[in-house]
Amino acid sequence: MITVAVPLGERSYDVLVGWGTRHRLTEVIPVGVRRAAVVTQAAVGVEVDPGVEHQVWTMGEGEDAKSLATVEELCRAWARWGLTRTDVVVAVGGGVVTDTAGFAAAVYHRGVPLVHVPTTLLAQVDAAIGGKTGVNLPEGKNLVGAFWQPSAVLCDTEVLDRLPPREYLSGCGEVAKYHFLGGTDLLDLPLDERIARCVAIKAEIVGSDERESGRRAVLNYGHTLAHALETAGHYDLRHGEAVAIGLVYAARLARRLGRIDDARVDEHRKVVGGYDLPTSLPRGLDHGQLVGLMARDKKATSGLTFVLDGPRGVETVAGVDERHVRDVLDEMVAP
Ligand SMILES: NC(=O)c1ccc[n+]([C@@H]2O[C@H](COP(=O)([O-])OP(=O)(O)OC[C@H]3O[C@@H](n4cnc5c(N)ncnc54)[C@H](O)[C@@H]3O)[C@@H](O)[C@H]2O)c1
Repeated sequence: MITVAVPLGERSYDVLVGWGTRHRLTEVIPVGVRRAAVVTQAAVGVEVDPGVEHQVWTMGEGEDAKSLATVEELCRAWARWGLTRTDVVVAVGGGVVTDTAGFAAAVYHRGVPLVHVPTTLLAQVDAAIGGKTGVNLPEGKNLVGAFWQPSAVLCDTEVLDRLPPREYLSGCGEVAKYHFLGGTDLLDLPLDERIARCVAIKAEIVGSDERESGRRAVLNYGHTLAHALETAGHYDLRHGEAVAIGLVYAARLARRLGRIDDARVDEHRKVVGGYDLPTSLPRGLDHGQLVGLMARDKKATSGLTFVLDGPRGVETVAGVDERHVRDVLDEMVAP
């Protein structure tokens, strides 16, 4: 088992990565907790034993269930059960569960302790780490949320065995992102070390900028187009697949702006393609709509804003000319 610390002063916590780490739940439940509210989904099929009185709530599937309505249902059920601020919420599932249950934990009684047991590759390397929680609105993804750090995260590699192949692949989209944030060795590592290395990269970035006042935005590498694709395509692309396309798009845009050379664009294609992820844009999308959606991105406070590679590494770039944004979309359509 590998332990990675997320360094946040008094709110620091450990992420345990390895085979069977879900069985360490009783050890990481905060002291004094009497009850645990376990939130999961039917398809997850992973049981946990918090070692205290507990009830399991099963939420719906997919981005539609990541909603204020689900948060209300959870909070009302916890209120009826008598969950208190000295109890704990345990989220067992992919990013949809950890984001939704995490947000409910952040707002119920103005905050109850939280432990994540992420069960998808994507949630283990990304969604469950760093304290971002939230839900979608019909107007867009992740528009309502809170920073709420867990007390511990258990990344159990055993449960990944039953993950559908497409979900595993989707997680690889976020792993590919870390290649460009200092993880050039990732492809050579065995799975548990690879996950731990991604967690360590994210932990270091979150530790330096918990509330995304600057540097943390690099974790959005590839995500500006990814979020637009997910909204425009009504979520038929998995998140990591959209990120994969977004990474190649960001590289091509950076090339057009003279920030990187052709070899670096090729490296993006090779890394993303090396995980068998898509490197071109699906046909039939309305590029005007994509540009409009990207202009509404949370980072876009002064014109079209992207996280782009360049001579100083990956950084946020504001005021990108719409013409370039549009041209690179047109160039990237699958033949
Ligand atoms: N908070 C953050 O920092 C952050 C970062 C990245 C992504 N996210 C969010 O994460 C979400 C995507 O998460 P995801 O890709 O994990 O999708 P998901 O949570 O929808 O899970 C994918 C599917 O796999 C099933 N599943 C989960 N674990 C399983 C297992 N072990 N075996 C079999 N089936 C299992 C789920 O029930 C679901 O059907 C998005 O909403 C995205 O916005 C959040």
